[in-house]
Amino acid sequence: MTQALADAQTPASASPRRGGHHEVLVVDFGGQYSQLIARRVRECGVFSELLPADVGVAEIVRRAPAGLILSGGPASVYAPGAPALDRGLLELGIPVLGICYGMQLLAHSLGGLVERAEVGEFGRAELHLRAFGRLFAGLPAEQTCWMSHRDTVKRGPEGFTELASSGVSPVAAFEHEERAIYGIQFHPEVVHTPYGQQILTRFLQDICGCERNWTPASIIDEQIARIRAQVGSGHVICGLSGGVDSSVAALLVHRAVGDQLTCVFVDHGLMRKGEGEQVIAAFRDTFKVPLLAVDAEQRFLERLRGVTDPETKRKLIGAEFIRVFEEEASKLSDARYLVQGTLYSDVIESGGRVGAATIKSHHNVGGLPDDLAFELVEPLRMLFKDEVRAVGAELGLPERLVWRQPFPGPGLAIRIVGGEATKERLDLLRDADYILQDEIRKAGLYRELWQSFCVLPDIRSVGVQGDERTYGNVIVIRAVTSDDAMTADWARLPYDLLEQIASRMMGELHEVNRVVLDITSKPPGTIEWE
Ligand code: XMP
Repeated sequence: MTQALADAQTPASASPRRGGHHEVLVVDFGGQYSQLIARRVRECGVFSELLPADVGVAEIVRRAPAGLILSGGPASVYAPGAPALDRGLLELGIPVLGICYGMQLLAHSLGGLVERAEVGEFGRAELHLRAFGRLFAGLPAEQTCWMSHRDTVKRGPEGFTELASSGVSPVAAFEHEERAIYGIQFHPEVVHTPYGQQILTRFLQDICGCERNWTPASIIDEQIARIRAQVGSGHVICGLSGGVDSSVAALLVHRAVGDQLTCVFVDHGLMRKGEGEQVIAAFRDTFKVPLLAVDAEQRFLERLRGVTDPETKRKLIGAEFIRVFEEEASKLSDARYLVQGTLYSDVIESGGRVGAATIKSHHNVGGLPDDLAFELVEPLRMLFKDEVRAVGAELGLPERLVWRQPFPGPGLAIRIVGGEATKERLDLLRDADYILQDEIRKAGLYRELWQSFCVLPDIRSVGVQGDERTYGNVIVIRAVTSDDAMTADWARLPYDLLEQIASRMMGELHEVNRVVLDITSKPPGTIEWE
């Protein structure tokens, strides 16, 4: 056990905690940054979860958090049907921080005045402190912050100290120190609020009394204990995809139950260059995890023969993947448990927020049907992606695997657009992709990009190489920045880098005589081409 965890469990400390951690709960009023608040709290070393706006006082009492944060949200506090605040939450003696809508709710329910401002306040704003109070002590009197609201608090509730204003918001922050109730109109959780993390830390450490004990090491200890309790002496199976989630999930389970775990890695021949070998080297050779590696390239190529429609490709690949996986799993007849790399964001997303329209039927290879006769082990269920990476690094996973960009389950097959994914075309795309990744890594840009990849459309273009007329392939460079793949911007790669990539592709790959750049953002485009 880590020292921080051991300290947190000494009986001398009377603060409430769960699983050995203080926790601060975020009550989610539907704001676009609610998840981000929980992530930032965890970055301060304090465990945090999101709860729905209608969570009752009884549940909060049961969880006994060290603090509550009321998130932002799109509603107006005085509109009929707007999510309301249960006043009982403010009588529990638990410190409360309201952010944006959360602050307006506090004001509205405690007798302050909230009204629609004449103009909304969106983006950067200057914050002027009138009083530092407990929340801002030691911070500059003038600071920049990020605002996103139309309603504004015109007057704080009685007994509250008004701490700050901005151009549009007469009361941009208030506090009641004795009741430990705090409100801020701006968003401390976004990077455009430079002192945001300090303000959150002030709330978490000084006001709520939390310690920094949510660390990768403590996460590992806690998950190992949970996995052991769930699995006992049972046998566990895990499908590795080569991505960071399944890799970290597998390593955690292996730490917990050793060789009771067997991993299955299906190489469908649609991966990037060298990726299959890297997975096998890391798991079999370095971590000594029992591994069944299946070379299924031929089977997948056969399935894909003659197929050009993207959705058909996805479905065929998904179905074949499950078939191969089941064949391997049946060799391990005593396996009762199946590891899945479900993340906390998946848990939240499937927990009732209205789903977005289905644009593509995403098949995630490694995503298996629910009716397989296994009990699921989900060691990442509590974790955000950045925590998964931190845990992976702590477990010794190679940097390449920890920081791997997302890669679609159907792999390179859906990047051969309008054409058939033959071995020849897959190899060409793989080689082009390798050059792109190599140059992007050398330029130090790999981690800054959400994804970077090549697309091979089924067209030919005329060129001249040496003295010869050529009729060759076109390679598309696609590189995007994004936080969550819901929206994305095309990455402004430096011209010199683009030039280097293009000339390498045309020099090293004889079949290529033209390289183009995709400058579409999402929306209106999607990240992938099909
Ligand atoms: P789009 O193209 O919809 O992609 O903007 C959003 C993210 O999802 C990935 N993607 C897939 N992942 N199976 C997957 O596992 C799929 O069929 C699939 N299609 C797209 C894409 O790479 C991006 O990260």
